[in-house]
Amino acid sequence: MANKGLNDARQNKKDEFYTQLSDIQNELRHYKEHFRGKTVLCNCDDPRVSMFFHYFSYNFEALGLKRLITTCYKNQDRDLFSRHDCERAIYLVYDGDHNGNRVPDPEEIGIHELQGNGDFRSPECIELLKQSDIVVTNPPFSLFREYVSQLVHFGKQFIIVGHQNAVSYKEVFPLIKNNQMWFGYGFPGGAAHFISRYEDTATAGNHKKGMIRVSGVVWFTNLEIQKRHEPLILYRNYTPEDYPSYANFDAIEVDKTDEIPCDYDGLMGVPKSFLDKYNPDQFEIIGNASDMDWCRSAGVAPMGQETIDRLRQQGNMAHVTAKMNSLYLVRDGKIVLPYARIIIRRRTPA
Ligand SMILES: C[S@@+](CC[C@H](N)C(=O)[O-])C[C@H]1O[C@@H](n2cnc3c(N)ncnc32)[C@H](O)[C@@H]1O
Repeated sequence: MANKGLNDARQNKKDEFYTQLSDIQNELRHYKEHFRGKTVLCNCDDPRVSMFFHYFSYNFEALGLKRLITTCYKNQDRDLFSRHDCERAIYLVYDGDHNGNRVPDPEEIGIHELQGNGDFRSPECIELLKQSDIVVTNPPFSLFREYVSQLVHFGKQFIIVGHQNAVSYKEVFPLIKNNQMWFGYGFPGGAAHFISRYEDTATAGNHKKGMIRVSGVVWFTNLEIQKRHEPLILYRNYTPEDYPSYANFDAIEVDKTDEIPCDYDGLMGVPKSFLDKYNPDQFEIIGNASDMDWCRSAGVAPMGQETIDRLRQQGNMAHVTAKMNSLYLVRDGKIVLPYARIIIRRRTPA
């Protein structure tokens, strides 16, 4: 299914994909020390369906949480997938186990009505956001920019699911560049398997019925994790033949993150997957070459007419209009437009 499901999700605003408990456990085990004494908010979560609610309520004591708040969107029925058939919504507050059985019993969970539909942007949901310390959820992909901007605006800590393509968004890239947000540990094999409520969900290969596989899905966080301080082992040496320079910018092309040369001090263009290995002690992020405004400000020379003509002869005009100001290189006499490069520089050891 690869990215088709996600692209369709963005286009049709199909946001009803549910995260599996095993994926939540797999990621959150790396953050345990952050939760002691904290209020966690899951603000895109039907509590009885969301495995986020399940994870935090059952691990409440083990994590030493202070409070768990979960809001659902346009739904008052706790036992069904969000059908968006009700304008009113509820939120749940759980303050931990009181009867000693270490299980969140229904009478221990406070159920409250919201005035509106539970939209994370509504004033009453923002009030709940203000009461919380750490936000953990898989928000709707179609509202990801607004979702992240709101978290940053209110200075919240977060662990959220999103697509790695979101790093190119103008609202998101500066956060990555300025070390205000980074990739978490990730999904096994680089793809998430979500539970889908859509009846037309394909059952690809040997995946279970009702599951959708989406590649490129990652966890984003601003909580400290060991992973981002592990150095990428660099084993290749720079040669101009292996690492050609762009024709219109003073940087070299590195088409695989693992092949970043250990001895090149200048600017390098790397694929977005680099961010999964990014260690801010080792590298500095300079800019996003998919952002034409950045390209202009950084002095990327626009393609000349001769280059455009050569591309036309090569038959890839479809890309040219959008990429007139982007990076290109000449390889074996052909114009090559690398896909979505991030410009980085190695930090030289102190
Ligand atoms: C990708 S699903 C993930 C659900 C759940 N967090 C999980 O991971 O299992 C996104 C959820 O956000 C809800 N949602 C959509 N628009 C919303 C909004 N404006 N405010 C709050 N929640 C919203 C959808 O109903 C959906 O349940």
